[in-house]
Amino acid sequence: MSVAGTRAPLTVLLLAAGQGTRLKSKTIKLLHPVAGQPMVTWVARAAEALHPSQTIAVVGFQGERVRVALTGLCDAFAVQAEQRGTGHAVLQAAGALKGAAGLLLIVNGDLPSLRPATLRALVALHRKSKAVLSLVTTDLDDPAGYGRMVRDAKGRVMRIVEHKDATAAERRIAEINCGIYCADPSVLMPLLRKLRPNNAQGEYYLTDAVHALIAKGAAVVALKHTEPEEVLGVNTRAELAAAGASLYARKAEELQNDGVTLLDASRTWIDPRAKVGRDTVLYPDVIVEGPCVIGEDCVVRSGSRLADMVLGRGVEVKDHCVLQASRIGDDAQLGPFAHLRPGSIVEANAKVGNFVELKKTRLGKGSKAPHLAYLGDADIGPACNIGAGTITCNYDGVSKHTTTLGAGVFVGSDSQLVAPVTLGAGSYVAAGTTVTEDVPPGALALSRVRQLNMEGWVERRKKKAAGARSSGS
Ligand code: UD1
Ligand code: CA
Repeated sequence: MSVAGTRAPLTVLLLAAGQGTRLKSKTIKLLHPVAGQPMVTWVARAAEALHPSQTIAVVGFQGERVRVALTGLCDAFAVQAEQRGTGHAVLQAAGALKGAAGLLLIVNGDLPSLRPATLRALVALHRKSKAVLSLVTTDLDDPAGYGRMVRDAKGRVMRIVEHKDATAAERRIAEINCGIYCADPSVLMPLLRKLRPNNAQGEYYLTDAVHALIAKGAAVVALKHTEPEEVLGVNTRAELAAAGASLYARKAEELQNDGVTLLDASRTWIDPRAKVGRDTVLYPDVIVEGPCVIGEDCVVRSGSRLADMVLGRGVEVKDHCVLQASRIGDDAQLGPFAHLRPGSIVEANAKVGNFVELKKTRLGKGSKAPHLAYLGDADIGPACNIGAGTITCNYDGVSKHTTTLGAGVFVGSDSQLVAPVTLGAGSYVAAGTTVTEDVPPGALALSRVRQLNMEGWVERRKKKAAGARSSGS
């Protein structure tokens, strides 16, 4: 999409080719999830909010996987086969950029907390200042690892020195370069071609362009950001955790402002894509993953994990439930210790109790499975009662089969329903029954062996045992 009006078009360039060795991972840093989504996708979405005319990502290490993660978020990819530094990375996009008029917004791929507002502010400053290069900086108490901003006596930006190349005095500079730049590509690109990798890492540093521009008499301006955690690059596992915590905290605050109770926001992880209704109460240690929709007036107790779930209103999820890709109707109750596997539907006012597992199963309106059951591939009508220990035998070693229950079926405890099988409306299954044939509506199915009581058996057995002991055998 292009920008309306007379504004020069904007091209976004994501630097996403570097491995990220400080994470000590087999997987490229940029694919590590932060608050449930690959790190680099956060940056791409922040840039997308500016409606650039095109977005290009430079990929290299594990490039195929990075491309997949960025599908739909980028218009084109440039390949940096060998990771020879950020300046080298930008140059790999020269072909893709050819003929692109307007501004270039270059963003490191490891900035998951970056907000669109910061990118907008940088672009606005760049346009206003008529600088050739603008960049975002911030002050850190512990700036170790980052490139430092070297300014002259008048406070003008002179150059950026990378941590590994910095002197002891330069390492005391608190102001760091954040890896977010706005530039005029017609000036920047020729300059990058002249960069030399004579530094501690033997890399072509994009940051060396600052000094090169100043030397040419061009203007470089800095936008100093006052909220460091938003603009910090993730390089270590500790920073990865901190970035996740910061995105979850942002989501928690948003929900609290919208009338959701989080009893301990620091211990509740809500996926930023999730929607939660007013007056819903989330206890500590609840994890909500994926684009869940949770209605109003729900309660979710500690230790429960909801992934890709849809909950109506007034749903109660007791402690320690694992709920995946399923739908829950209004006022239903789950848990403690319930397990919903994908494709299940728990209708309004239904109840799934402790140690009950559902897989691709519908539990009809007001039906109850309060204890110890496995219900797989079952279609259970309304107002049914599923006794403790009921098992749908849905798998014959080759295929899965369906169990169908009409309305108001009563299944006694410790029963097996051997699929495919249908239990008609209002039928009963006696406790301990193995149902292998369809049960007509209103019938009782009973498959137990008749009970035999042997009077005085215990006493006789004891006497026999005592006799054997005294005869010494
Ligand atoms: C970079 C900056 C540093 C800044 C910091 C902010 C340079 C030389 N240094 O350092 O001044 O303080 O970011 O977080 O730019 N990448 C490539 N190809 C490469 C190398 C890197 O695409 O050959 C990509 C990475 O995937 C990453 C980004 O560029 O998304 C930054 O690379 P990284 O190695 O994290 O740079 P830093 O050393 O942190
Ligand atoms: Ca970095």
